Amino acid sequence: MSAYPRVAEFVEALNTKLLGQQRLVERLVLALIAEGHVLIEGAPGLAKTRAVRELANKMQASFKRVQFTPDLMPADLTGSDVFRPQTGDFQFQAGPLFHQLILADEINRAQAKVHSALLEAMAEKQITVGQHTYQLPKPFVVIATQNPLENEGTYALPEAQLDRFLLHVTVDYPDAALEKDILQLVRGEAANQQPDDGRGMISPIEIQAAQKEVQQVKVSAAVEDYMIRLVMGTREGGVLAPLLEAGVSPRGTIALDQCSRGHAWLRGRDYVLPDDVQAVAPDVLRHRMLLSLKAQASGISREQLVQSLLDQVSAV
Ligand SMILES: Nc1ncnc2c1ncn2[C@@H]1O[C@H](COP(=O)(O)OP(=O)(O)OP(=O)(O)O)[C@@H](O)[C@H]1O
Ligand SMILES: [Mg+2]
Repeated sequence: MSAYPRVAEFVEALNTKLLGQQRLVERLVLALIAEGHVLIEGAPGLAKTRAVRELANKMQASFKRVQFTPDLMPADLTGSDVFRPQTGDFQFQAGPLFHQLILADEINRAQAKVHSALLEAMAEKQITVGQHTYQLPKPFVVIATQNPLENEGTYALPEAQLDRFLLHVTVDYPDAALEKDILQLVRGEAANQQPDDGRGMISPIEIQAAQKEVQQVKVSAAVEDYMIRLVMGTREGGVLAPLLEAGVSPRGTIALDQCSRGHAWLRGRDYVLPDDVQAVAPDVLRHRMLLSLKAQASGISREQLVQSLLDQVSAV
């Protein structure tokens, strides 16, 4: 039996709690299935934290939220060896990263050394403290949020390491009609303090089953070629090369493939169309391109760059 109906129900349940955020919801589910990490960027109050809380709530997985602050230290994430006077030895006390789903809230408020500890754990799925290396749980998915409006007291994530996020999703303001629906939803929740319906509605086994099915989704030679041409467009000699300091890595190509398959599967297809590639390309590619000084000076955005790539590289 296919995992599809269960995952579709899960997506639907999330959408009833996150009004007008279908794209964000879908990206979070894509990441979960691909066991990849997500960076969510958006202004305050756009339900970034709420989205991850709802996701965690509807899954049977261990969840931990970590609020990033300037005084957070790497050991506050990884854990450390703690002296035990009873036995006179040191024992490792696991930190909050030892959970399946991590919300790294306001990630840009912590310092560079904390970012490297987190980004390393994300890439290696293990942590080294002292002489020992500890495996992180499976699945291990980090969802980080950041607010682009703030600069004071924040530390930008190292651009060269942003690659470790499978997807970089931006969220935008709702329109007036949606705003009204959100108000009613949240008022209703506050008034009758509804019990959380759908708590733990999806299990890791169902997610794994979905993962297997996504791996079976077929990519034709023509579509594969299209994905590679898009990536090559960001490298030396490519259409975007004059505007980029560095292009998309093979990790980016793999991410484009995984996300395109997942996108097709979520639409009930077992083969990828160029449309799937185009739909996920902005969120897969935007953070993997390092803009040249010339591009930065011209004020061109990463969104515009991805759009220009999609315009210039034909699908056939
Ligand atoms: N699309 C939405 N659907 C449901 N609730 C929403 C939506 N947008 C905003 N809200 C409500 O707005 C409030 C703010 O949401 P939340 O705290 O998740 O924002 P945030 O993006 O994490 O903000 P910050 O950047 O300040 O941390 C919550 O009460 C949330 O329920
Ligand atoms: Mg928040």
